[in-house]
Amino acid sequence: MQNITSAQAMQRLVLAARRKGQRIGVVPTMGFLHEGHASLIREARVVSDTVITTIFVNPLQFAPNEDFTRYPRDLERDTRLAESAGCDVLFTPTPEEIYPHGFQTTISVGGVTEPFEGVFRPTHFDGVATVVAKLFHLTQPDKAFFGQKDYQQCMVVKKMVSDLAMPLEIVICPTLRETDGLAMSSRNVYLSAEDRQKATVLFQALQVAKTLIQSGERRRMVLEEALKTIILRQSGITIDYAAAADSETLAQPDEFSSEQAVVLLLAVRLGTTRLIDNLVV
Ligand code: PAJ
Repeated sequence: MQNITSAQAMQRLVLAARRKGQRIGVVPTMGFLHEGHASLIREARVVSDTVITTIFVNPLQFAPNEDFTRYPRDLERDTRLAESAGCDVLFTPTPEEIYPHGFQTTISVGGVTEPFEGVFRPTHFDGVATVVAKLFHLTQPDKAFFGQKDYQQCMVVKKMVSDLAMPLEIVICPTLRETDGLAMSSRNVYLSAEDRQKATVLFQALQVAKTLIQSGERRRMVLEEALKTIILRQSGITIDYAAAADSETLAQPDEFSSEQAVVLLLAVRLGTTRLIDNLVV
């Protein structure tokens, strides 16, 4: 596996690979890789000649009060994990490579960015869209792989790609979970043993609401109340949102039709750690 840190070297490599007709797959990450990230790399491996994993903790997508400076980092371990999952090129740029002095462009997607995460992290998706667009230009993928774990992020990236006619396909991969159901996340290392135990309530709440939907419950308020009641049975958890929405538009009707696919979306705080999860039913 090759490690590249310079933006120019990265772009040169992919332009040469493209000229040879190679299919390029890219997995954008912020590092501190786990099995969820590895599953994206493996998926990319199957359909690409060159698999690139990018590791960049993107300052633009963190608000000043968020965890940018303490975001976990371990490049040595990431290198081993990426390589064993089948990555060919690890791209680990510095902030100066991505945002050179005088950088002044923001990509701002409307609509799908507004509810849920948009309410609690109002500048977050501008940061995500801007860095993902830049990473796409530097790596020129045929396909880019994202995890359903960050459901709204997937919608934002897809919308940007479609609105700007970016010539690539976004592939959404399923959420990988620990054996007790907790969605894998780089941020899970922040949790104390006690909070790690409490965090399983997210998956439990999603399962209960899923069962309700499958048994015919279509009233949004009833579904949301069920999610909240189960989560709040645990002490020390606060809810940013616990919502049911149309899986394609994120609209929140009072009642879902029987054909509508519903996405259940959760964001909670456990101590100083913020966790998100979702399930499409
Ligand atoms: P990060 O949180 O490192 O996640 C990188 C990719 O891994 C995202 O597409 C995310 O959805 C996926 N992922 C995370 N946990 C997963 C899990 N348990 N199962 C499956 N996939 C999972 O998301 C970001 O970084 C950044 O916002 C980024 C897109 C890189 C832009 O900076």
